[in-house]
Amino acid sequence: MCGIVGYVGNRDCTKILLSGLEKLEYRGYDSAGLALIDKNNNIILKKAVGKLENLKKEFIDFNIYCSTGIGHTRWATHGKPSVINAHPHLDSKERFVLVHNGIIENYSEIKEELIQKGHLFHSDTDTEVIVHLFEDKYNGDILEAVKETINIIDGSYAFAIIDKENPDMLIAARHGAPLIAGENENERFVASDVPAILAHTRKIYFLDEMEIVLLKKDSMEFFNFEGKKIEKVHNNINWDPLMAEKSGYDHFMLKEIYEQPKAIRETLFSKLEKDVFNIKDLNLDNIHPDNLRKINMVACGTSYHSCLVGKFVFEKTLRIPVDVDYASEFRYRDPVIDKNSVVILVSQSGETADTLEAMRIAKKRGAYTIAVVNVFGSTMAREADGVIYTVAGPEIGVASTKAFTSQLMTMYCLSAYLSEKMGIAVNTSSVIKTLKTISPMIETVLDNLDIYKEIASKYYKATDFLYLGRGINYPVALEGALKLKEISYIHAEGYPAGEMKHGPIALIENEVPSVFIINKSSLYKKVLSNLQEIRARDGIIISIATQGDENIAKYSDDVIYIPDVDEFYSPLLTVIPTQLIAYFIAKKRGCDIDKPRNLAKSVTVE
Ligand code: G6P
Repeated sequence: MCGIVGYVGNRDCTKILLSGLEKLEYRGYDSAGLALIDKNNNIILKKAVGKLENLKKEFIDFNIYCSTGIGHTRWATHGKPSVINAHPHLDSKERFVLVHNGIIENYSEIKEELIQKGHLFHSDTDTEVIVHLFEDKYNGDILEAVKETINIIDGSYAFAIIDKENPDMLIAARHGAPLIAGENENERFVASDVPAILAHTRKIYFLDEMEIVLLKKDSMEFFNFEGKKIEKVHNNINWDPLMAEKSGYDHFMLKEIYEQPKAIRETLFSKLEKDVFNIKDLNLDNIHPDNLRKINMVACGTSYHSCLVGKFVFEKTLRIPVDVDYASEFRYRDPVIDKNSVVILVSQSGETADTLEAMRIAKKRGAYTIAVVNVFGSTMAREADGVIYTVAGPEIGVASTKAFTSQLMTMYCLSAYLSEKMGIAVNTSSVIKTLKTISPMIETVLDNLDIYKEIASKYYKATDFLYLGRGINYPVALEGALKLKEISYIHAEGYPAGEMKHGPIALIENEVPSVFIINKSSLYKKVLSNLQEIRARDGIIISIATQGDENIAKYSDDVIYIPDVDEFYSPLLTVIPTQLIAYFIAKKRGCDIDKPRNLAKSVTVE
């Protein structure tokens, strides 16, 4: 949560920082702020509550040349969204200015001490103590002051500080929150994430835990927390900056829904070599086939739902049991994990605090950890024993879409690949053949949006929705309900259709729509009976069914058809209508689709 960006160089950096913040807004949008140092070494500080557009208004007639600056977009933890609590924060003498992503857990003790020493605090944030502590420790050596500061603060952070007395310099440190640095000739950047600086450089350094970076316009040095200089190698990022633009779509979410055929195709092809599965970076040699007697899968949010589909995929293909946990539960429930365990962590960002901690716990207990992540070089990707990338490109919309389907594609590939390694008789060439057909099928689902617009105008005023499915499509029901809740603020529940009569059916009345995932499957007749139970109680029925199932129209108020596909692979298709239903309902309700209230894309706090 929260995004930070910083610049030191030869260019006027106000626009560079504002456009960097635009790319980071997915990390929080309770307030935003910028601190710049002008030619006369004055700090110019501007902040605004709410979305970045409010901060941009502060810069409409701004034409002061500033070539050093830091910016922040906030997801409030300590202190409500207000100008005073917005970052950047200044020290008492207004010499240093700081932005921070994370939480300082011992801030109140530090604050007490500093108040005793005469420091005057203005905000309710935990962040403000860092800059005051830094001021307290500063004795002419910026690196030394950072070292002493981080020795005292506890918690998670990525912060960046600039100094008006040394205007061509920026220092930043990372512990528990992501931080990257980038360089061009005569300019250097820091940011929470790659898209923030992708328009300017693809030469990126990923800071590891407990590292410091000191930027000057023509140099960049890295240190560990003991202050010892370290050498780091840069990565060349091959994401196209255009991938992080809306490219004519009204919202990133819609653009990303449309990018799914490409995302899953590229994910599939990245796992193939001459039409045979080969997953690099997985270090599979390190897993003895005997260890594969059980798999644990751990994730949060939408990624958790993809694990629930993964359970079906792995269990069916490998015939070994799979446990799926929310990361926030796993980390505290003393899971039965040891050196014979394989734990798969799934995360779009690779930075979600709970999933990351779950991974560290699994590693500590000796398990072999595999991270399925989308963001190259993210913390999970670097810390896991093996990594598998989804190749979805940057996902900016807070509601995850293409990351989900790319994760599913990865599960199909990984399970087939593991089956080969374990000597299980699976016809992997037929799996590959089927997986190749999915992408064009999604294109046909995306061909006609009229049905979704119609459904949206009929039901956008509903206050409750149910999403029901069975078997491998039960997780899709959960995901459909989550999508609607998060972007349209309509209460929605996802349920296994067969379980509905044990509770949720009490919600049914003639104004409550139920979205049934009732594609062709071994459980079709069972789902149909569940659907009839809702119909008998006057509930509204929206069916997601298989092309050619004319019968279903008789029992449904609305039907969305998907192409005929084996039920095992069907979640890759059935989820698409649920994304579009949520999108068009949220649009009709006038919601801020890419930035839903109270949410953030990357939850880097517990
Ligand atoms: C947040 C986002 C969700 C996402 C979840 C897990 O809650 O709003 O869209 O599914 O985090 O994120 P991850 O990056 O770990 O997949």
